[in-house]
Amino acid sequence: MCKKCYVSTPIYYASGNIQIGNSYTTVACDVYARYNRQMGRKTFFLTGMDEHGQKIEEAASKAGVEPQAFVDEVAKQTQALWQAMHIDYDYFVRTTDKNHEKVVAEVFEQLLKNDDIYLGSYSGHYCVSCETFFTEKELGENHTCPDCGKPTKIVSEESYFLRLKKYAHPLLEYIESHPDFIQPITRRNEVVSFIQSGLEDLCVSRTSFEWGVKVPSNPKHVIYVWIDALFNYLTSLGYGSDQLENYQTFWVNNARVLHVIGKDILRFHAIYWPILLMALEIPIQFKLYVHGWILTKEGKMSKSRGNAVYPMELMSRYGVDSVRYYLAKELPLGNDGLFSYERFIERYNTELANDLGNLVSRTVSMIEKYCGGMVPELKEATPYDASLQETALLAIRETKKNFEAFELQNAMQATWQLVRRVNKYIDETAPWLLAKDENKVGELSTVMYHLAESLRIIAHLVAPYLVETAPKILQSIGQPEDGFDLEDLSFGKPSDGAKVVKMESLFQRLDMKLELEYFEKKKNAVSEVKKEAETPLISIDDFSKVVLKIGEIIDCKKHQNAEKLLVSQIQIGSEIRQIVSGIAMHYQPEEMVGKKVVVVTNLKPVKIRGVESCGMVLCAANEEKLELLEVEKMPSGTMVR
Ligand code: MSP
Repeated sequence: MCKKCYVSTPIYYASGNIQIGNSYTTVACDVYARYNRQMGRKTFFLTGMDEHGQKIEEAASKAGVEPQAFVDEVAKQTQALWQAMHIDYDYFVRTTDKNHEKVVAEVFEQLLKNDDIYLGSYSGHYCVSCETFFTEKELGENHTCPDCGKPTKIVSEESYFLRLKKYAHPLLEYIESHPDFIQPITRRNEVVSFIQSGLEDLCVSRTSFEWGVKVPSNPKHVIYVWIDALFNYLTSLGYGSDQLENYQTFWVNNARVLHVIGKDILRFHAIYWPILLMALEIPIQFKLYVHGWILTKEGKMSKSRGNAVYPMELMSRYGVDSVRYYLAKELPLGNDGLFSYERFIERYNTELANDLGNLVSRTVSMIEKYCGGMVPELKEATPYDASLQETALLAIRETKKNFEAFELQNAMQATWQLVRRVNKYIDETAPWLLAKDENKVGELSTVMYHLAESLRIIAHLVAPYLVETAPKILQSIGQPEDGFDLEDLSFGKPSDGAKVVKMESLFQRLDMKLELEYFEKKKNAVSEVKKEAETPLISIDDFSKVVLKIGEIIDCKKHQNAEKLLVSQIQIGSEIRQIVSGIAMHYQPEEMVGKKVVVVTNLKPVKIRGVESCGMVLCAANEEKLELLEVEKMPSGTMVR
């Protein structure tokens, strides 16, 4: 068995907040890395930031800071997020690392020297947002980007090109002779037909912006951000430096190198990356695991659409483990998954609170009640033990088999077969009845042993994703942490007088209605803020067109034809104005008299339900409440500025 593992996420663009969708890859890789460590493998888990390119240069300039300061801040925020999500990476690469930049520049020169890169000129449709050129036939309607839908622009410039055409045939041969190179197979087929439809040489430099690695022999050119980014997988291991140990261990001599990516970046990883490696005669050691997207009911998550969900928000309400659980469980390898609050809460209640959380608290309570808190040893058998043990062994086998294949969802399902079986075992054996019968003491002990032993196994199997819960389960059944070794996990560890510990419930059941209301309110609040942010700014001259004065209400009556309206007579300095206001649901006419309020005095008069209104009284209002803006000391007629 291969005792090593190198797993990487794509490096994230340093352009903004990470939402729940693109945190998927990182959580999935973390789960996989933890599984491999539990299997006793020496594991290198890589993640990091993609920090060069026009998009980032533009974002920095919009924020009014230098690009380096901009990416430093984003990297800090991203690392804080990963820490909060318990992402246990071994290395966090940044493409602005000096050693990375140096290697990228050297590699480019090497490719140039080998004539795998040549100088030419390019004219094409470029999407700044996706950092990608598109051919005419690939474009969307009105020359928009087929990926993000934003307008593309025609860019013409002297450029370097990478010879993709030259490597099309060897790449096809490689893919054919390595059937598991791209998984799942649908993605592999997609790549094969793309190559078969004819590869064009790839434009790999730009001259229209500055923020990137310069071509040393022609520094007006910045190296294409994807060449820069892809090499992170090697520079992180020391490739190109004098410290090659990790490169040798985790790349050259390793049968388990995995790049996990989303479907949107398949072409870069399945075509450009292996071609670059071939051109440099570096062994293609990696396999690609391609996942789909996490979508919302409204489609892909995006900040501008207002449907983005952020992991911090969920974690602070429901804890880290439930978010990790949801993400790992939601995406079958290859297909898209869905995020909705309903689904999140449903999964939380059914699978975490009911199936698992309850099982732990019931077991602990019963062992306390029936065995004085001490986990007993096996005694007299019950008719249900054999089937439970079988399910436990099957769950261990199947969970491991699916983790090996990066089928996280299936691995979790395999574990839940056991969780459900243990719950059923409680119903079958009915310990509360055994406890009433003196002759069944032996069987009761056996049942309690089986419950605790099953929980020990479950804790080991869920440890890659329920990172906070797994140690708590062990603690509650009085078991020491053993690094959650999965290699030798089996049923039948002696209980050795372990004592159970009663703990707070692992997952409190949630009230679906209340939770949904909470998020609905939050969404409305966010869209209010957004609306406000979108309101155009006005100049002081615009503001000074509005004349505001203090007026004292000297009389007030109900409007005769409208129950929501009040008609007030307001003294403003020496004049008296009649003003109609929609406040009758909040104020009685008599309580209005004597109030000194703020009045807009230069509004054109209008008739409201047949009554003339010459101005407007200002109020603070939301959906539930309304309050007049009042002053105490200032006399009527005072200007409000
Ligand atoms: N910087 C490039 C990767 C370079 S790797 C040499 C990039 N970055 S990204 O920040 O845009 O995306 C990071 C990862 O998140 C990608 O794998 C991408 O597919 C994934 N996802 C982005 N949105 C997603 C969802 N809504 N759902 C699941 N994964 C998604 O691409």
